[in-house]
Amino acid sequence: MTQDELKQAVAKAAIEYVVDGEIIGVGTGSTANFFIDELGKIKHRIKGAVASSEATAERLRSHGITVFDLNEVETMPVYIDGADEINGGGAMIKGGGAALTREKIVASVAQKFVCIADGSKLVEVLGKFPLPVEVIPMSHAVVARKLAALGGEPRLRVKDGKPVVTDNGCYIIDVLGLSITDPADVEDKINNIVGVVTNGLFARQGANVCLLGTADGVKKLEF
Ligand code: A5P
Repeated sequence: MTQDELKQAVAKAAIEYVVDGEIIGVGTGSTANFFIDELGKIKHRIKGAVASSEATAERLRSHGITVFDLNEVETMPVYIDGADEINGGGAMIKGGGAALTREKIVASVAQKFVCIADGSKLVEVLGKFPLPVEVIPMSHAVVARKLAALGGEPRLRVKDGKPVVTDNGCYIIDVLGLSITDPADVEDKINNIVGVVTNGLFARQGANVCLLGTADGVKKLEF
């Protein structure tokens, strides 16, 4: 099976977690995109969705799914999203697609986080995937120095020679070379650096369930 087929399989399996008549939190990225396509097929069953990025909002609307502003929504039964890495305790690195802050905000309103990922995302120790950190643009140099002091190798994310700008008008620093054995501690330490909007560690609000696509089928991990 190709990686895309594995992503498609978990996206289909995640429909089981969609609650009829409710608003669903929807993540960002290639796996989330497959999920949105599946959600489109059963859109009559849900009230709508809250999107974790402009790209996701656009794709949801293209399927005729109503997109709600998070400020109109008090709670949601479930948030469904991919991950760049997930460990055996349900802690994740996210933000490869630069949507980490809105992902974390939308997930914080949901009662359950369902992670959908192909098997390559399951790791023993987080950190091989560079950890994304969203920063206020004027602070990127000072934040980078502080991230280096924590033991990482920070790189400002650039595209076509210019800093990548998030949906929130901020920059992303990717931190290489981390071996994250205590994800909650690292999440807290980085969030405490002035100038950081948020970081891509989802340990304080990790996954409750992970649907993992493998050659032997979709495996369910519960945390
Ligand atoms: C987006 O910012 C990310 O958090 C994605 O959820 C993550 O990068 C997974 O993306 P893929 O599903 O494309 O691998």
